[in-house]
Amino acid sequence: MATVRTEGLTKRYGSVVAVDHLDVEIKEGSLTAVLGPSGCGKTTLLRCIAGLTTPDAGRIYIGDEDVTTLAPSRRNLGMVFQRPSMFPHMTAFDNIAWGLQLRKWPKDKIASRVKEMLRLVQLEGMEDRRFAQLSGGQAQRVVIARALAPAPRLLLLDEPLSSLDAKLRDQLKLEIAEIHRKARCTTILVTHDQAEALTIADNVLLMYNGKIVQEGAPLDVYRYPQTLFSADFIGTNNFLPGRIVAMEGGARVALDGVTAELHVPKPPADMGVGTTVWACIRADDVDIIEEDQRSKHRNVIPVKVERASMTGGTVIIEGRLDSSRLRVHVSGSRRFEYLTMDGKTILCALGPVSLIRREPDELAPKVSGFAPLACE
Ligand SMILES: Nc1ncnc2c1ncn2[C@@H]1O[C@H](COP(=O)(O)OP(=O)(O)OP(=O)(O)O)[C@@H](O)[C@H]1O
Ligand SMILES: [Mg+2]
Repeated sequence: MATVRTEGLTKRYGSVVAVDHLDVEIKEGSLTAVLGPSGCGKTTLLRCIAGLTTPDAGRIYIGDEDVTTLAPSRRNLGMVFQRPSMFPHMTAFDNIAWGLQLRKWPKDKIASRVKEMLRLVQLEGMEDRRFAQLSGGQAQRVVIARALAPAPRLLLLDEPLSSLDAKLRDQLKLEIAEIHRKARCTTILVTHDQAEALTIADNVLLMYNGKIVQEGAPLDVYRYPQTLFSADFIGTNNFLPGRIVAMEGGARVALDGVTAELHVPKPPADMGVGTTVWACIRADDVDIIEEDQRSKHRNVIPVKVERASMTGGTVIIEGRLDSSRLRVHVSGSRRFEYLTMDGKTILCALGPVSLIRREPDELAPKVSGFAPLACE
């Protein structure tokens, strides 16, 4: 059963269509991430669901109820905004108790519920602290506890971690997953951080220009990008232009300007011989192998190392194959050996290859400023 459903939801600001005829379904009890770049309409979608923004068209259902015109306070949901929104002059206890007092809960029930919430967000013993006496992460946990205290049927989180530093963000994102696992409240998390979405969500809605361009479990969204945008937005992909030249036990793809052919066992059903494609290969999904291991791999291509650079855990190799280029991320303890291999040829065994339809004259997205020569 879906906790939230929208039908043709649309919101325009002048000529900008912030949310464009969206049909979304958020499953009961799920932690769904709405992921997309800045300005794609994530906050607008969340605010429409919360009732803080009035849509121009479409319907919103929470459970079986049509809430499209219902006041926000009657939608029974908790919301956490991007900027810390703890009431600064009130203690953690009073912040969490606030919604319960509004609902006129009896005092003893409020006290036990606040205690339970403090335990849930691991802030026991900090109930008397005010905003200035808490770290950013702790204050944000108070806000999450405040949103959850009245047991809403839906928790909406709009980039709740973006004001925190990277380490704290990493820690708190796991805590959000844990809080969700314990409280089991259907949760929508808006984020532009793919790691956040892929790590903790059980369903990802990838949003672009007011539309959902792909939806699925994190692993599927990562492994099987369906559009050029998805392939480019998530992870680091290589985009090699080519054409399907045969369909036999999958697709055989001839790459433009490269003598190598790739074999793709499960091409999209609507592709056939003659389809022009982008062969997308993740930089993280390439293994460097020795000559005698060649027969163990499906797609092996020789790549001449042009440049290798260090980012700590990963070495980035930029290499050339005929008139195209490939970027490879190498991890593992031998990675530093590649830092001194400029001009040498390495054998690259390509992991899963995704095929995305390529329009005539379409340019490849640049991989962190690195475009394959064939499309420059
Ligand atoms: N109140 C408003 N008035 C005019 N335009 C708006 C308003 N709110 C949002 N927009 C526009 O609608 C589009 C979507 O904005 P929205 O805030 O939903 O994006 P977002 O995905 O949340 O972005 P970010 O990641 O930067 O928070 C943007 O082009 C934005 O400029
Ligand atoms: Mg936003």
